[in-house]
Amino acid sequence: MDVVVVGGCTRDLVSFTQRQPRPGESIHGNKFLMDFGGKGANQCVMAAKLGAKTAMVGKLGKDFYDDKTLENFENVGVNKDHVSQTDETSSGVASIIVSEDGQNSIVYVAGANLLLSEGDVAKATELISNAKVVLCQLEVPQATSLAALKLAKSSGVFTIFNPAPAAENLDADFYTSCDILCANESEAEWLTGVTLSDVDSAQRAAEMLRRKGCETVIITLGDRGSVLTSAQHDGVLVPVSSIKAVDTTGAGDSFLGALAYYRALMPTLPLLDAVTRANTVASISCQAAGTQSSFPTASQLPKDLMAAPVNH
Ligand code: RIB
Ligand code: NA
Repeated sequence: MDVVVVGGCTRDLVSFTQRQPRPGESIHGNKFLMDFGGKGANQCVMAAKLGAKTAMVGKLGKDFYDDKTLENFENVGVNKDHVSQTDETSSGVASIIVSEDGQNSIVYVAGANLLLSEGDVAKATELISNAKVVLCQLEVPQATSLAALKLAKSSGVFTIFNPAPAAENLDADFYTSCDILCANESEAEWLTGVTLSDVDSAQRAAEMLRRKGCETVIITLGDRGSVLTSAQHDGVLVPVSSIKAVDTTGAGDSFLGALAYYRALMPTLPLLDAVTRANTVASISCQAAGTQSSFPTASQLPKDLMAAPVNH
C-alpha cells in the first residue's frame, strides 16, 4: 500500500447557516447535507482520490449508515479489510455548522472510534509495516495511534502524525515516532502553550515542537498557507493563493491526505513543493460544500499538481 491510515471514520451532519449561533440561541439554517467524514477517513480518501493505493484501519458501529461508509470506501478505492464493526456503540458522528464565511464549528462524538484498539493495530501489522506512508490522528485512543506510529516507524515506514482534535498532555513518544507532525493553529497552541496570532508565533511554535523530537513540523494557517520547519527549512511560510471559501470542513485533512500522497508516490519531490501542492489541493476542497465529496480527484486538478518532479 502507498498510504495506510489508522484513524477515525465518521458520519458528518452538516448544516449551513448565515452565521454561527451564540450559546442559548436557535437560528435558521438554509441547507443540510450528510457526508462521509472523520479525520482519518478523510485523509485516506483524499490520498485515494489522487491515485494512491490506500487502506483504512478503523472501527464502525452497525447501523444502516455504516454499510454506506463501507460502500463509500469501496467506491473510492480504499481497502477496508481492517475496518471492523462493533455492536457495543454507535458509529462516530460529527455535527457541523458551516457559516457563510466558510468557517465551521464541529461537535465530534467518537463512538465506535474509541474502540479501535492496539489489538486492531496488531491485527494490521503486515499492512502497516509494509506501507510507504502511515498517517495517524487523535480521533481514536492515543494508545492506538501511538502503537501504529511506533510499529510503522520501527519498520522503516514514513510516518505522518496529525494531533487532531487538539489534545493536551500528549505522550512524549508521539514526537519521536513521526517523521512529520502537522497541526493547525489551535492544535499547535494546545501542544506548545504559544498563542498563535501570526506567522511569527507559528514559526516559534513549530520550532518548539521540533525540539520535542520530530524531524519536520508543519503548521497549517488556513488561508495564509502553512509554515514548514525542518533541518532544511527554517519556519518557511508556504503561501496559498486566495480563494472564496464555501466550506472549509476537512481542508486540513485534504492537505494531509495530499501530503501523504506526494510522499508516497513522488518521494523525490522536494518537501517544500509537496507542501505547496498540498496547500492548493486543500484550497480547492474549500470551494465546494461538504467533506469528502468536496475533495478533488487527480483528473479535476490543474496538471502541474500531478506532474512528476523534475529531478536535477
Ligand atoms: O477534520 C474534519 C472532520 O472532523 C470532519 O469530517 C468531522 O468528521 C470531524 O471529525
Ligand atoms: Na469543502
